[in-house]
Amino acid sequence: MIVGCGGHGREIFGVIAAVNDAGDAPGKVVGFVDDAPSEDNLRLLDLLGTSWLGPSDLLPRLDACFVIGIGDPRIRAAVAARLDGVARPAAPLVHPAATVGLANSLAEGVVLFAGARVTTNVTLGRHVHLNQNATIGHDTVLGDCVQVNPSAAVSGSCRIGAGALIGTNASVLQGRTVGAGATVGANGCVVRDVDPGRIVKGVPAR
Ligand SMILES: CC(C)(COP(=O)(O)OP(=O)(O)OC[C@H]1O[C@@H](n2cnc3c(N)ncnc32)[C@H](O)[C@@H]1OP(=O)(O)O)[C@@H](O)C(=O)NCCC(=O)NCCS
Repeated sequence: MIVGCGGHGREIFGVIAAVNDAGDAPGKVVGFVDDAPSEDNLRLLDLLGTSWLGPSDLLPRLDACFVIGIGDPRIRAAVAARLDGVARPAAPLVHPAATVGLANSLAEGVVLFAGARVTTNVTLGRHVHLNQNATIGHDTVLGDCVQVNPSAAVSGSCRIGAGALIGTNASVLQGRTVGAGATVGANGCVVRDVDPGRIVKGVPAR
């Protein structure tokens, strides 16, 4: 089951289709749950040949594991807090065009989109999503529900706190910490540690 009919959830449907096409089957997508799907999203699900089954409180009653298809890490964390423990998160989903190096730890609910790269001794917490072409360097730790947007580069030995968002094409220099719930704007470059909950942008990011 994919939780969330929006664009991010539908992209994850595509990740699962690609994994299945590669013969490394994670299983069949039963459908989507969403507490308030828009008419547009319902129509777009139809185009994908799948459907909305109902609100997310259906999940604990279904014999299916779930992946959270919500791009905003704060909303993803709220959904995870509600569903983890009452329903079964999916095993990590890794697009066949993503690469995962040696001795990494990927928790349940992790999704790696096409082109994402994880090198060595990296830890990805529960429900971390690495969007297309995002890269994570050696020894870096990403807390639960971190979102790394397309083409962002998190260097080695970084700490990215739970629920943080690293914007499209942003970079985090080696060894830096981005606090829980912080946001790094698109194209920003983190050269100093970012406090929890802060929004920073620009080069250098302030
Ligand atoms: C940085 C960010 C969080 C700011 O969001 P916000 O608080 O809603 O900011 P606003 O859009 O109101 O813009 C406020 C100011 O910051 C500027 N700004 C916005 N994003 C910026 C960015 N990434 N880098 C530099 N400046 C930025 C705006 O031009 C505006 O400047 P002004 O006051 O001089 O007009 C957001 O713009 C961003 O970059 N988020 C990441 C988005 C992303 O990765 N999207 C991809 C999805 S796949």
